[in-house]
Amino acid sequence: MDQFKNKQLPEFSGNTTINDKNHLEIGGVDSVYLAEKYSTPLYVYDTALIKERLNEFKEAFSSYEKETQVAYASKAFSSLALYQMLAKESVSLDVVSGGELFLAVKAGFPSEKIHFHGNNKSHQELVEALNADIGCIVVDNFTELDMINQLTTLHQKRINVLIRITPGIEAHTHEYITTGQEDSKFGFDLASGQAKEAVKEAQSLKYIDVIGLHAHIGSQIFETTGYEAVIERLMQHSKEWQDLFNFDLKVLNVGGGFGIRYTNEDAPLPIKDYAISIMRSVKQYSKELGLELPEIWVEPGRSIVGEAGTTLYTVGTQKTIPEVRKYVSVDGGMADNIRPALYDAKYTGVLANKVYAQYYTKVSIAGKACESGDMLIWDLSLPEVEQGDYLAVLSTGAYGYSMASNYNRLPRPAVVFVEDGKDFLAIRRERYEDFLNLEQSVDSKY
Ligand code: LLP
Repeated sequence: MDQFKNKQLPEFSGNTTINDKNHLEIGGVDSVYLAEKYSTPLYVYDTALIKERLNEFKEAFSSYEKETQVAYASKAFSSLALYQMLAKESVSLDVVSGGELFLAVKAGFPSEKIHFHGNNKSHQELVEALNADIGCIVVDNFTELDMINQLTTLHQKRINVLIRITPGIEAHTHEYITTGQEDSKFGFDLASGQAKEAVKEAQSLKYIDVIGLHAHIGSQIFETTGYEAVIERLMQHSKEWQDLFNFDLKVLNVGGGFGIRYTNEDAPLPIKDYAISIMRSVKQYSKELGLELPEIWVEPGRSIVGEAGTTLYTVGTQKTIPEVRKYVSVDGGMADNIRPALYDAKYTGVLANKVYAQYYTKVSIAGKACESGDMLIWDLSLPEVEQGDYLAVLSTGAYGYSMASNYNRLPRPAVVFVEDGKDFLAIRRERYEDFLNLEQSVDSKY
């Protein structure tokens, strides 16, 4: 088996290797050992790769003349241990709910580096954000602006805000679309003048400091043109608002959306390419419009944790329909990874306990939920599969655990961090007993 040693998997750009047992190794830990130690399904995160990606982002913007902030978008994956790790990496954090904020604060994440997003922040969530003294709120609509005004006035507390703009630019993987009608539940649209009104109104409020603008144009973006277009548009409007009512664009937040590799079909750009183009555009329009250079903030989620995650499953039953296909079922599926069912997302995988073989056959990987749509991968080439083999699905680190459910009363899997040959249980597996924590027995009064 020596020929397999340290051989990089063809479809995976992480630290995944194949050891001399022909097993998949992640962060220097044998995945078969992990599956046996923690059971399956199991999310495994290569934390060295997470840190590497964060550093790539920080490095990529380090030549910029003004400050930059890389705010990790927690919605991609959050956990106490991850937040603790991030706190040491001098990055900021984007949260979108009281729940994410709660966990981040519990983890000791510095609250002044937390940004709060969302189109329907509740009164309670805003109180929690103000009490935690977070760094800034990204204001999404007039109702929220009103609530923040009332709360800050009541408590005589100042807060920094960014105004979220619906820029009328949507980026889809390889193209961006300029939509005349800015029809989105998020942010203030430019076309109807609401964005201008929002900035003007927010500026007039006593305890609110408008520090800049925010826009997020989409997900899994492989081109820089969408970011360039949104920068042009937001900076042009900033100039207009500066002339009209002294708006000062101190911060320009261009959101997240940087694409990653799920399969060989995906060809993500190096992070520095996005950064170079974003910095170049901001400098160009600053100069052309006579604006001061703003700080640049970005909010990557998927590109930080996506490729660092692998899900391990145990193979169970199989069914062959002659001349049609072979279904191989695993012990998880849409409950731990809703993305194939929800977005038709594509993944690839390998047999963790026998990565390479002489011959491969085509199989389709089915989840165990009672839904025909619970298919993880169609037509995957694998060595001869047997019951008890371990399947590793690659690049599952983003929007997997964070979107997991208990559908069919499947307990949520455990999450393990691996690095330098060591493993650490970050989130334990749910047990059936955990279900009972929320349940009430009907008593005689009902
Ligand atoms: N900032 C804002 C305001 C966002 O809405 C998002 C994602 C991000 C940053 C992070 O985007 P990323 O870098 O992760 O692409 N559940 C979907 C993705 C939903 C993304 C929502 N917003 C999926 O599984 O593909």
